[in-house]
Amino acid sequence: MKTKIIPMSEENIDSEALAEAGGIIRNGGLVAFPTETVYGLGGDALQEESSGRIYRAKGRPSDNPLIVHICRMEDLPPIVAYVPEAARKLAEAFWPGPLTMVLPKSDKVPRMTTGGLDTVAVRMPGHKVALAFIKAAGGYVAAPSANLSGRPSPTLAKYVAEDMDGRIEMILDGGEIGIGLESTIVDLTEDIPVILRPGSVTREMLEGVLGKVGVDRAILEGNSGQAPKAPGMKYRHYAPKGELTIINGRQENVVMEINRRTRQMQEKGERVGVIGTDDTVSLYLADSVKNAGNRKDETTIAKALYRILREFDGEGVTVIYSECFGDAEENGIGQAIMNRLLKAAGYRLEYV
Ligand code: TXA
Ligand code: MG
Repeated sequence: MKTKIIPMSEENIDSEALAEAGGIIRNGGLVAFPTETVYGLGGDALQEESSGRIYRAKGRPSDNPLIVHICRMEDLPPIVAYVPEAARKLAEAFWPGPLTMVLPKSDKVPRMTTGGLDTVAVRMPGHKVALAFIKAAGGYVAAPSANLSGRPSPTLAKYVAEDMDGRIEMILDGGEIGIGLESTIVDLTEDIPVILRPGSVTREMLEGVLGKVGVDRAILEGNSGQAPKAPGMKYRHYAPKGELTIINGRQENVVMEINRRTRQMQEKGERVGVIGTDDTVSLYLADSVKNAGNRKDETTIAKALYRILREFDGEGVTVIYSECFGDAEENGIGQAIMNRLLKAAGYRLEYV
């Protein structure tokens, strides 16, 4: 299959190409598209076979459910058993935006889309191309991140092409993605809402609307063996090819330790990459040093992280050291960054 790549920014929406993209989805095909979080790999959420194709294109186990993307509030009630008050309030506050809600599903949604579950994850993305595309596609687009299973989520169309070329009909190229980490997932099927995956809509923001909100223990405890409630969170995700270790401690100690290990590894013939920040990148001696951004504005780090992991892969880096960015219990986007970084590192975190 030849994959067509079509440039489409929020400022310049090409309605003819959009109609073509929508037609592909209606006919059971697959189109990757930009959202404000990461690129999505879209198929018709209401056609069982489309969801099947998504799993195959990604090489993803089919017990790992897909998020259904909508573009209008009136499209929510038909796909859920009921709309809880909490969902109304959250939609009012955060949609369109980087928040996914897990709700009891209606019969309209095939189990293939929900990985066999009785619940469905729904999100209205805050990106004009995404919203227009979902509308053109008929209103319900199932979309996981547009990477091969186990690779970092794509924040640029060239990374979508790297993983999906020849596997899908079309890629809508919307340039670099703004947020760079996947949406927050909140489960609204229990008495107390629970965060299943941290993202840029933080616990404090959700609590500001709903009162008390819990966090899935599997997120806080990471490698404790606790089964996460979002099936996808149990897989080793976001894995770069090089072995990644996070080094935590006082800044000068971290720089010294990373440089010491770098030399050691280089002597063994390894190619070493380091993830630092504005304050430290000039101090590292590795083969490839990447600047994740500025600690005073963690959104810069969220945006850069997956791109950096992919760049290391392209450079043949075999060992990676990263500074630590906040901790898993932290408030704000630091929790989401650490959640992804720890997974990428297979939970290798050391203190100096
Ligand atoms: O930002 C995002 O959410 C991106 C963009 C494309 O919208 N999508 C995304 O999808 O990250 P994906 O498939 O890579 O991750 C979806 C996560 C998985 O961990 C999955 O297990 C979980 O959502 N999930 C989906 N439906 C669920 C459900 N009914 N109950 C619990 N977890 C669910
Ligand atoms: Mg994903």
